[in-house]
Amino acid sequence: MDAPLESRNASYGRTLAAGLFMVLAFSAQAAGKPPGFAVASAHPLATDAGIEILQQGGNAFDAAVAVSAALGVVEPYSSGIGGGGFWLLHRERDRFETMVDGREMAPQAASREMYQDAQGHAIADLSRNGPIAGGIPGTPAALDHIAARYGKLGLARDLAPAIRLAREGFPLDARFAKFIVMESKRLSPAARALLLPDGKALAEGALLRQPDLADTLQRLADQGRDGFYKGATAQQLVDGVRAGGGIWTLQDLAGYTAPERKPVVVRFKDYRIVTAPPPSAGGVGLAEMFNQLSVLGWTGNNGVHSQQLVIEAMRRAYRDRATYLGDPDYIEMPLQRLVSPEYGRALAKSIQHDHATPSVDLPAPGQPKRAAKEGVDTTHYSIIDGEGNRVAATVTVNLIFGSAFLAPGTGVFINDEMDDFAASTTDSNAFGLIGSSANAVAPGKRPLSTMTPSFVEGPKGVLVVGTPGGSRILTMVLLGMLDFFRGADAQAIVSDPRYHMQYLPDQVQFEKGAFDEQAQAALAGMGYKLDALSSSFGNMQAVLWRPAQGTLQAAADPRGVGTARVVLKNAR
Ligand code: DON
Repeated sequence: MDAPLESRNASYGRTLAAGLFMVLAFSAQAAGKPPGFAVASAHPLATDAGIEILQQGGNAFDAAVAVSAALGVVEPYSSGIGGGGFWLLHRERDRFETMVDGREMAPQAASREMYQDAQGHAIADLSRNGPIAGGIPGTPAALDHIAARYGKLGLARDLAPAIRLAREGFPLDARFAKFIVMESKRLSPAARALLLPDGKALAEGALLRQPDLADTLQRLADQGRDGFYKGATAQQLVDGVRAGGGIWTLQDLAGYTAPERKPVVVRFKDYRIVTAPPPSAGGVGLAEMFNQLSVLGWTGNNGVHSQQLVIEAMRRAYRDRATYLGDPDYIEMPLQRLVSPEYGRALAKSIQHDHATPSVDLPAPGQPKRAAKEGVDTTHYSIIDGEGNRVAATVTVNLIFGSAFLAPGTGVFINDEMDDFAASTTDSNAFGLIGSSANAVAPGKRPLSTMTPSFVEGPKGVLVVGTPGGSRILTMVLLGMLDFFRGADAQAIVSDPRYHMQYLPDQVQFEKGAFDEQAQAALAGMGYKLDALSSSFGNMQAVLWRPAQGTLQAAADPRGVGTARVVLKNAR
């Protein structure tokens, strides 16, 4: 992608004078500094690790490395150095923005049909369980790169809190304890030895020490990326994975790269949204949805008529996700066209007010077999430092504990990110997502993701936001941003009830409270099939800086166990 992927819609264009005003407003923001620093993450100990590093004089990028590594220790069911993710960075000094792509890569022995049966249908178990489901991890390379290029303290200091947590241990929270029980049958022998010693699941409050993981992290701290992708750790990983039926080689590990990619930039009303480019589907999806809402005249109203238009915009964006998107290093994608306001206008043409468009009436690349699953793994954190540097990072091992395979001697859970490829063009993945050959498995390729770490900047301030949640990530981030435009504070943005539509299955899932009874009746009358979920979804983490007011807020999703902390300058 050479030219920046920038979507600028009509309502943003305005007159030259208004445009100039916007530029001035943005640079005034740039000149001010936040009144302190803030971290919001999915676990209190990871938030503390980030604050500790900021208090030592680290910047947001150092803190991001510390939080990522700590999350991998204290919620290994969500993320870790056996997985991958996307780190969206904003450096305030020169307003440089980039995304570090630490997405897993398929091993060289991978093939298009590797997860198919003789009839060409996907074998779900293969791409989800055991080390055959694992892509080559990207998190260690990404952390090394971020610390070296953007941080101030160096990788070893940034990793110190995580190494301490792994070596000294920490008391299990109820969520972790629940996942051990829930996943006990999937866990590999080494994982069971760690989490179910003597066959009994560790309970809430038990101290979990991970000495192998501490050693593995220490090698990364001492040697940088080579301490993971080469030498003793690499050998242990390859031996463990292959003994468990996987196909990794030492060359696969040594050949892993974490490139920087230009973020997608979307203009909506007076806001500038900076978000994840492919191999995430997030940025393109947000551009398509905002461009449609712009044409449809979104006003900030959150009534059912407005929600109906949002649902239709979601539907069309997910159709395109399935049709066009994949790894930018492997396929040609019409990205400039997809993010353009003209394309959004064309998409919006088929939207009827107060009337559902059946997904079958929008050309489809395949049929799903199952509905989207509840997403409880993966993790996100948001950080702003005292200079105004920002990090939004969504990181993952995919499903709970990834492939559930712990490589013996390493303390590392191997991801099952290979399930994010379209194993076949007729079957959906764990999140009910379908895909085309654009997202077929190939050696060295990165599976398409929905992770959407994002920044928003405009009249209501600066928002750093993101969430886990599988296929629902993108629609959660959209709803969070719409809340922000309405003036919601950080706590409301992460808390408000959510709804979701992903083209196929053709239904609208919603959390309790997203639609009242009248709205449900109205939507049903417009032709929507509604799926009222009994549980909640997502685990959004947000930091909100309002330069005009000089305020800094941070909020952790009440659905999870995370915490958000703001430290004001005068309190340091
Ligand atoms: O990259 C993706 O889109 C998925 N592997 C994310 C998985 C996820 O968010 C799981 N659940 N909460």
